Amino acid sequence: MVRLSKIATDEKAEKIYDARLMKRFLRYTLPYKGLLFLSLSLLPAISLLALVQPYIIKVAVDNNMVPRVTEGMGLLVLFFTMAVVTEVLIRMFHYYVVQSLGQKVVYSIRKELFNHIQKLSLSYFEKTPVGSLLNRVTNDVESLSEMVSSGVVSLMGDIITIVGIAAVMIILNLKLALVSFSILPLLLVGTLLIRKGMRKVYREIRIKLAEISAFIQENVAGIKVIQLYLREKKNEENFQKINGAYFKATLRANFFDAFLFSFVEIAGAFAVALILWYGGMKEMEGAMTFGVLVAFIEYLNKIFVPIKDLSAKFSVIQAAMAAMERIFSLIDTEPDIKEPSAPLMMKEISGKIEFNNVSFSYGRGKVINNLSFCVDAGEKVALVGATGAGKSTIIKLLSRMYDVTEGNVLVDGMDIKKMSLGQLRKNVGMVPQDFFIFSGTIFDNISLGREEIDLNNVKVAAEKVMASRFIEKMPRRYYSEIKEKGVNLSMGQKQLLSLARVMAHDPKILVLDEATSSIDVATELYIQKGIRTLFEDRTSIIIAHRLSTIKDVDRIIVLHKGEIREEGRHNELLEKKGLYYRLYQLQYQDQESFNAA
Ligand SMILES: Nc1ncnc2c1ncn2[C@@H]1O[C@H](COP(=O)(O)OP(=O)(O)OP(=O)(O)O)[C@@H](O)[C@H]1O
Ligand SMILES: [Mg+2]
Repeated sequence: MVRLSKIATDEKAEKIYDARLMKRFLRYTLPYKGLLFLSLSLLPAISLLALVQPYIIKVAVDNNMVPRVTEGMGLLVLFFTMAVVTEVLIRMFHYYVVQSLGQKVVYSIRKELFNHIQKLSLSYFEKTPVGSLLNRVTNDVESLSEMVSSGVVSLMGDIITIVGIAAVMIILNLKLALVSFSILPLLLVGTLLIRKGMRKVYREIRIKLAEISAFIQENVAGIKVIQLYLREKKNEENFQKINGAYFKATLRANFFDAFLFSFVEIAGAFAVALILWYGGMKEMEGAMTFGVLVAFIEYLNKIFVPIKDLSAKFSVIQAAMAAMERIFSLIDTEPDIKEPSAPLMMKEISGKIEFNNVSFSYGRGKVINNLSFCVDAGEKVALVGATGAGKSTIIKLLSRMYDVTEGNVLVDGMDIKKMSLGQLRKNVGMVPQDFFIFSGTIFDNISLGREEIDLNNVKVAAEKVMASRFIEKMPRRYYSEIKEKGVNLSMGQKQLLSLARVMAHDPKILVLDEATSSIDVATELYIQKGIRTLFEDRTSIIIAHRLSTIKDVDRIIVLHKGEIREEGRHNELLEKKGLYYRLYQLQYQDQESFNAA
């Protein structure tokens, strides 16, 4: 079912740092360089305020508490309070600035991603699982925002704080500083090792989470089949496997978290013990003041937090690097079908279609083989042939959902590859086999947001194809809400809706791919008239397995394995007693007798 390996390979080996990616990413922060500058310039102020606090305590201890002097104590308390309050206020402001910077950057990246995804060609979506695209736009983008807000900027803040505290400690008392720092290598190596293990676990957690969401996504989409074929039990087992792996990975991550926390606590206590032992002795020897000792313990507490977080921030940056790589590779994916560099715009299109020696392959084996035919402007042509003969493929080539492998397709004598893609698609109106209904109102679904199409156009179109009959019965008529994928409509109603859609858009070339297959015979006969008006003044290509829609077309093209086998009017082809005749015998005879009855 779900191609889990595909999701897993999405997670490439993570690079620690990639200057090329970072440079490209930084370009997105350029429009907000004011915010970036502000957030960076606040960092030294925050560090300075944090640094000053233990020093005030030192002065209070040495100048007031030990010699029991009350004078000046009030001022020191005031300074201390002001330092703490100002630090907290600036931090708060800084947090807001950094968060908005992160959100602004990912806002524009998300926008670019979505716009880019919309431009990609059909072939891309056919080979890319939806889940992985969703991941790009949500999780990956989010990890970029995390990098801005709690990675890069605060990493710089941490480094400033660590260097500042170390400098003050050295100035206060070099020997005591060296004694306190003696614990740092142990702390650094220890946390790095623990983090290394953590990174592996967190990576596994991410992969398992992606698998869970892909699994759920596919199973919800296919829930009907699952329930009808009683696959629930089997699915439960499969899900349990992924869920179990995820569960175990999170347990391991929790263990690492607890371990890291305790390790840092113990290392911190050890450092304080060292200071108490060494500094205490020195103080008693009179080589050092009591205030310095107190200040050192305070500074140690302050330096441990950023050191502990240092490796966590590297992980955030590392994860973001991987996300950046995936995001940029998606942005760099060029659509297969591109607008020509100098698109030719035609004044008006009359709708003549030519296929010249067209061959096409989806990758392996030719699906269309050296096919040539011509449809005159205003002509109505039907394509028939067995399942898999290549009928839908032909019309995908006509609207440039795919480009031909060999030969060319012309509209009004112009190669469609040279035409503006917009003009081509505006003029080729298609009701595909797997049409799509969006959530929104009936009106939205027919007009699809095109401005020239107002309620009146929609009503006229719906009346012509007889869709108005069911629409008028709905509670809010043209403003009735349709649920996602049109679940509150029947298959036939959805088809009528997509017929009304193409009617309202009024294209010069009309393509119906099995457009009436789900409409009951009585309604179909009823809407025949409507469909006939749909054909007026335009070139039409109709693909239908049901005879009723194609019997009176100008010409029928019979396809077999991507080649034209027969061509002619209904009666001529029947007289030939060839492939069409056989198809007719197999498919339409029953229905003919039904219609006659
Ligand atoms: N996206 C795709 N990727 C790869 N192969 C495809 C794709 N779409 C269709 N094919 C293959 O191309 C061939 C022609 O498919 P096509 O959809 O054109 O048939 P059709 O004549 O429309 O059939 P039907 O009457 O069942 O709709 C089939 O063999 C099919 O397997
Ligand atoms: Mg088809």
